[in-house]
Amino acid sequence: MIIAVWLMLPAYVPNSMAAVFGGGRPIDGGRVLKDGQRILGDGKTYRGLFVGIACGVLLGLLQMALLNSLSEFTDISLPSFSYRGSHTIVILFSLASGSLFGDMFKSFFKRRFGMKRGASLPLVDQLDFVLGAWTFTYLSSPEWFLMNFNRNIMVTVLIITPLLHLTTNVVGYFIGVKKEPW
Ligand code: CTP
Ligand code: MG
Repeated sequence: MIIAVWLMLPAYVPNSMAAVFGGGRPIDGGRVLKDGQRILGDGKTYRGLFVGIACGVLLGLLQMALLNSLSEFTDISLPSFSYRGSHTIVILFSLASGSLFGDMFKSFFKRRFGMKRGASLPLVDQLDFVLGAWTFTYLSSPEWFLMNFNRNIMVTVLIITPLLHLTTNVVGYFIGVKKEPW
């Protein structure tokens, strides 16, 4: 479980940071499609996207810097965000940007189903960014991905993510950065 969270941290953080620092110009520029609904909606902004990705990558770099010292405190061998030909920055960028693109992809379909910004779509809201992060990382760094995300880790991530997501969103709701507690 610790390994699963460790590997997913650069994908988790972009979402929370987008919620904290997001706002301003929406990515879809306010445009609507033929169905009369927004392309993505006001909940997807450039600031949220860029700040989120930057925070995810920075956290990953911090994890890399701490890797050796943390290993002295625990028997768990924490995985590194690099492997053979794969570059740390590419892996981290894929985890962080895949996470927010997965989230945007979901918003696109929510709008097509006529769902307003913030409308809840259980499970999809909690796993969109996991699937986005995995897809991007698998495509950019397949060797590293397969090496680290084995079946046990993936199942663990799918189980703990909705729980973690719900907890952080309830916290976000009470400290006022989220409009809805999901
Ligand atoms: N956010 C942002 N830019 C992004 C992603 C998120 O600014 N690319 C911010 C928005 O302020 C958003 C908040 O983070 O309201 C929470 O994100 P999320 O729950 O994904 O958005 P919702 O407002 O629920 O919109 P949607 O219905 O499209 O999911
Ligand atoms: Mg939402």
